[in-house]
Amino acid sequence: MAAAKNQAAFLIKAGTPLEVGDAPLPTAGPGELVVKNAAIAINPLDCHMQDVGVFVQQWPAVFGCDVAGKVYEAGPDVQDFKKGDRVIGHAINLVSGRPQDGAFSLYTVIPANKAAILPDAISFTDGVVVPFAIETAVCALSLKEPGVAMPGVSTPALGLPYPSLENPAPSLGKTLVIYGGSSSVGSMTTQLATAAGIHVISVAGAHNFEFSKQCGAAQVFDHKDPSLVEKIVEAVGKSGQAEFVGIFDAIATPETYTHDLAILAQLGGGHLACVHPPPSEVPANVKAGMIFAVNDIATPVWKDYVTPALQAGKIQCLPPPTIVGKGLEFIQECLKKSKAGVSATKLVVEL
Ligand SMILES: NC(=O)c1ccc[n+]([C@@H]2O[C@H](COP(=O)([O-])OP(=O)(O)OC[C@H]3O[C@@H](n4cnc5c(N)ncnc54)[C@H](OP(=O)(O)O)[C@@H]3O)[C@@H](O)[C@H]2O)c1
Repeated sequence: MAAAKNQAAFLIKAGTPLEVGDAPLPTAGPGELVVKNAAIAINPLDCHMQDVGVFVQQWPAVFGCDVAGKVYEAGPDVQDFKKGDRVIGHAINLVSGRPQDGAFSLYTVIPANKAAILPDAISFTDGVVVPFAIETAVCALSLKEPGVAMPGVSTPALGLPYPSLENPAPSLGKTLVIYGGSSSVGSMTTQLATAAGIHVISVAGAHNFEFSKQCGAAQVFDHKDPSLVEKIVEAVGKSGQAEFVGIFDAIATPETYTHDLAILAQLGGGHLACVHPPPSEVPANVKAGMIFAVNDIATPVWKDYVTPALQAGKIQCLPPPTIVGKGLEFIQECLKKSKAGVSATKLVVEL
């Protein structure tokens, strides 16, 4: 059998197109897996990394967060995975800076505690939409104490329970508003929150109401509706739940912050968990924070939940992938499409 050869899509300099070239074949250290990627997915973060080199620690850079494929090598102490296992995983070049930890490669190193077996019935191109979004969702929902997202910005601490495999999950009597219910992060957070027994009211485009309900939202409102704030406040009031937790804002723009703060003002405050730095000034009854989606808080979910939940259909591989092409060369095209904006889909490249 021919020796395995690796290639990666390199960013040589911020603001330039990715260049595909030969890369060293990585090896698995303690607690690591090398995955032979069959599919990778694109996230908006990748566009920022390409444009301005944010989070890049080492040039040329190889980044990307989502992989699906087969285990090529398991680290010496890894018990839960073996060579040949079908897996999905969260690649963490974002924090490590090491090129071998970037998804945009034929072979990628991922931490074994950010991987899960992908059931045979689920294709790699479907499964690859899950990893980064699910870790982000856990960080949005389940941190108990505020940590540091970036200098001067703390993480949110909603302290909500992990998702359950019970169907349906017992109600917690809590309502959470998810702004951006059709986005990758918003839809996965809707799925996990619902699976934790939380009543979700979401905000999405009118054409994505059914999609957001498929993810578990009890009610969905149009982000273009001029009466959005009033409608959300009314829906929370009539939800029949004992507690309003707050808002997870998966869009986090000046416009969404205006709506968030108006909703929170009318509902007596609550959490405001954001995917970007929150508004600089918030009232005393609003606990605002920014998620940072690489966190060991997700380890129990990776270890005990992802595979059985995928198997049982408790996690659906949503939003569905749009497969842009086969080969590392298509990543650049995906980045261009991602910058143009997507709606209720995740851009995916097959390898
Ligand atoms: N801090 C972190 O750790 C972290 C982690 C992951 C992601 N992020 C950030 O989170 C954001 C979302 O990422 P993603 O991958 O989920 O994005 P995405 O799937 O590419 O987002 C596309 C979706 O955004 C929705 N949208 C756009 N404007 C909206 C608005 N005003 N109100 C409601 N929905 C709106 C669109 O909804 P319609 O088509 O229905 O209109 C569309 O479905 C990005 O900015 C990303 O950089 C941060």
